[in-house]
Amino acid sequence: MANASPASLKDSIGACGSGRSRDFSRHDSTRQKKRLPEIELPLDNSAMDRYRLRAAEPNDEHRLRELFATVFGESRTAEEWRWKYGASCALATGAGYHCAESVVALDDSEQLVAHAGVLPLPGWREGAPIPIVQVCDVMVHPEHRGGLGRHNLFTLMLRDLLARIAERLPTAFRYGFPGQRPYLIGERSGVYECLEIALESRLSGPRRWNNLWRAAPLDWNDARIDALWERLNAQCRLGLIRDRAYLHWRYADNPSHRYRLYGLSRLGRLAGWGVCAETGSEPSLVDLWLPLESARHALAALAVRLESDLSRTTGIRVWLPTAYRAALGVPGTETPVVVANMRWETAISAEIARNLLYYTMGDVDIF
Ligand SMILES: CC(C)(COP(=O)(O)OP(=O)(O)OC[C@H]1O[C@@H](n2cnc3c(N)ncnc32)[C@H](O)[C@@H]1OP(=O)(O)O)[C@@H](O)C(=O)NCCC(=O)NCCS
Repeated sequence: MANASPASLKDSIGACGSGRSRDFSRHDSTRQKKRLPEIELPLDNSAMDRYRLRAAEPNDEHRLRELFATVFGESRTAEEWRWKYGASCALATGAGYHCAESVVALDDSEQLVAHAGVLPLPGWREGAPIPIVQVCDVMVHPEHRGGLGRHNLFTLMLRDLLARIAERLPTAFRYGFPGQRPYLIGERSGVYECLEIALESRLSGPRRWNNLWRAAPLDWNDARIDALWERLNAQCRLGLIRDRAYLHWRYADNPSHRYRLYGLSRLGRLAGWGVCAETGSEPSLVDLWLPLESARHALAALAVRLESDLSRTTGIRVWLPTAYRAALGVPGTETPVVVANMRWETAISAEIARNLLYYTMGDVDIF
């Protein structure tokens, strides 16, 4: 993923503000670049004169998938694109929200050269529903990158995107999960603000004879999933609504990855769930919803079950919400992913969001 230098990272450490040392350079795969470049301004006219920004439209899809392949070197099928941007929007409108608009940039010959995507989803903030918007698939065609400030298309596009979201969904929490280098570009542009570096932990057995918790496969349609959201939502101060509709869209209907849902029960009563990703080099517990006070025993039971079902002995990787990591007392190692608040015209500052946010790997569109 992205590379960054210790020099440029010193600036971002303050912005991250958790008091823990942030050394992105540990993940630096290409250390030749020592600082973010002072890019030459290419032309007199600003990017604003050279590009037209507008909301993405359904018939942009083919060109967007082409741009994605050019920028990321991977292809996305029409099915994947529609699931991500169409079906997520249906989830948001089902909850009574407008659909936030992704933004595209066209050059003077009407070529589609950049995109910033949004996933609007039903969320929750301290006892009340709010929209939560994830910014994703931010990409600029290689020939249209560079420049600073109003000469930089990325900056103009992200500011335009965030202003549109602020207008349509003024109470929304907007976040994203850039790699470290794109994060620093966004920080410089005044659009990203670091909440924290995502930390990865590892869960493993062995089974304890006195653990009353059990994990077993659970059906995505089980109505108790909604009851669990209702029963436990007081422990989610800011986060996605983890109900049946969300689990269906995010995991059961996902065209790119396969997931397994496990119910967590104590003495036969369902009291939580976990979602495991089956694909990828290592199995991951990508999502979890269970009482904080029972996290230690419930997750121990789940780890035993997953290790057995997946024939693993090296543990299951997981991003635990902060309070759960503390409750379990497990260490976390820094990942290359920055959890970023979208600060431009934001309703919720990083100081507030940092202390409230409940997120897991499943919040991120790539897992
Ligand atoms: C991220 C992006 C939109 C920024 O565009 P931009 O503001 O025009 O900035 P530039 O592309 O000119 O990048 C500025 C510097 O950061 C570097 N950089 C940008 N993205 C990087 C990445 N993912 N990893 C490592 N370095 C990166 C560039 O190489 C450049 O350094 P250089 O001038 O020394 O070559 C654009 O680089 C892009 O589309 N990248 C590919 C897609 C991507 O990574 N999206 C973010 C997903 S998290």
